[in-house]
Amino acid sequence: MSTNPRDSHAEALRFENVTLEFPGTHQPAIQDISFRVARRKLVAVIGPSGCGKSTILNLAAGLLAPTTGEVYFNGERVTAVNSQAAYVTQQANLLPWLSVRANIGLALKFRRVPKDEREERIAHWVKVVGLTGFEEHYPRELSGGMQKRVAIARALIYDPAIVLMDEPFGPLDAITRLKLQQDLLNLWEEQQGTLVFVTHDLNEAIYLADEVIVMSQGPGTVHRVLQVPFERPRSIGSLVESREFSEIYNDLWSLFKSEIDLSDASA
Ligand SMILES: Nc1ncnc2c1ncn2[C@@H]1O[C@H](COP(=O)(O)OP(=O)(O)OP(=O)(O)O)[C@@H](O)[C@H]1O
Ligand SMILES: [Mg+2]
Repeated sequence: MSTNPRDSHAEALRFENVTLEFPGTHQPAIQDISFRVARRKLVAVIGPSGCGKSTILNLAAGLLAPTTGEVYFNGERVTAVNSQAAYVTQQANLLPWLSVRANIGLALKFRRVPKDEREERIAHWVKVVGLTGFEEHYPRELSGGMQKRVAIARALIYDPAIVLMDEPFGPLDAITRLKLQQDLLNLWEEQQGTLVFVTHDLNEAIYLADEVIVMSQGPGTVHRVLQVPFERPRSIGSLVESREFSEIYNDLWSLFKSEIDLSDASA
């Protein structure tokens, strides 16, 4: 396989010296950001609140344009909404007037997938995310974790070239979170798509990702990119107990710690 870094087949997403300054602000939100995401990799973005994590996903989704620099997807410059990207925003953003079935099938309907095939794929994904029996329920009748599952199924059902997730498990309780993390891990390992997700949770970054992009703030820049060398398939349960896990956690923590003000915390 070619190792040429310009080989666009190997590369899903590339930021080149991207700076973004929102109108009316005096400091860029992100400055001179460069990184690459290889195809079929799972990449986590962590960093302090306000460092520009969501801005990066918005740029990758083509919802924002850089002030200077370029964003490339599959070797092509992103200049409009990136229709090959599925974006799971922080809130599940389900359509409240549609059932679970209809929410999950939305992208297929937009793409005019025939009804029979649509029903078949919806049934498959309902099962994958463990919502069998809830197909006719409405979002308000679901727990937060179930809504998140619907959002994830809705994003993955049309086999997008890249999935962007902004704190996918943010507001969930620890147990639901662990369950969904493992579910996502299994799903991803089966499908092997490209996935970029934002998290505040260092453990989550290590469980799931091949690479962790650690950001600094004021303005947002890439501080370091850390490799996570664990083999796949991974089991979160056994990872946590391994010595390598603690070592990587400590590395990540020391990178992260320097980015947040912990002057009151005991050393
Ligand atoms: N529409 C906007 N107009 C002006 N400034 C904005 C806008 N959106 C974001 N910002 C600023 O850009 C910076 C980065 O915001 P962003 O939402 O990307 O941060 P984040 O890392 O996702 O934070 P959090 O972890 O709290 O979600 C922040 O300083 C924010 O105030
Ligand atoms: Mg954010």
